[in-house]
Amino acid sequence: MANVPEHLAIILDGNGRWAKKKGLPRNAGHVAGARVLEDMCEVVWDKGIKYFTVYAFSTENWNRPSDEVAALMKLLRDYMKNSVKRAMKNNLRVRVIGDKSGLDEDLQDSIRTLEEATELNTGLNFTIALNYGGRDEIVRAVRKLASEKDIDFMRGLTDKDLSCALDTAGMPDPDLLIRTCAEERISNFLLWQLAYSEFYFADVAWPDFNEAELDKALESYASRTRRFGGLVKGEE
Ligand code: FPP
Repeated sequence: MANVPEHLAIILDGNGRWAKKKGLPRNAGHVAGARVLEDMCEVVWDKGIKYFTVYAFSTENWNRPSDEVAALMKLLRDYMKNSVKRAMKNNLRVRVIGDKSGLDEDLQDSIRTLEEATELNTGLNFTIALNYGGRDEIVRAVRKLASEKDIDFMRGLTDKDLSCALDTAGMPDPDLLIRTCAEERISNFLLWQLAYSEFYFADVAWPDFNEAELDKALESYASRTRRFGGLVKGEE
């Protein structure tokens, strides 16, 4: 397909509703969602996408019932521990963005191990947003700069300086954002990075997302003209 996004970001929404509809506990939706996500890493790479970033747990998700938070943390813990082999086989470079200092020590260790093991892989750049909030990321970046740089640097701060201090430093901004389950909100995801991204809202819940749904989003993306605030040739 022509005009494939280099960077695809997805808000994985609807796991709970998917489970409820089937008469299952909400956690069954998260388990199904995690399975779909692993398959999708292979599908997106086959489409020619180089960066794939997903919203797995937000800074606001701690407000969910404690048993759901515990179940999600277990799922993420299991993923970090058990996916090293598959990530190596598929040449994935896995990164986690978000405030890792707010996670349990053992989870931080497993994340470090997975990131280091896959650091030199040259396939899909798979990024998981965990304990992530867009506002929190910007505040952490500004605090980091303020503690490391002098006042003249801070007074002359540029767009590029801030980009380089974000968790996503070095990654291109997403070209396409997909949100599933018919919700049309950004929910504090990649606030800075989505400035000029195209948005696509899929009706299906995340556990029902598949290659055919991805193709619909990619076709929609391919048909759009991106202007980045300017004009394209012929519109002058
Ligand atoms: C939104 O559905 C989904 C989440 C808050 C969690 C997403 C996490 C995963 C799919 C799995 C973990 C990821 C990895 C890397 C293994 P919701 O619960 O808000 O659904 P609802 O809106 O229907 O209630």
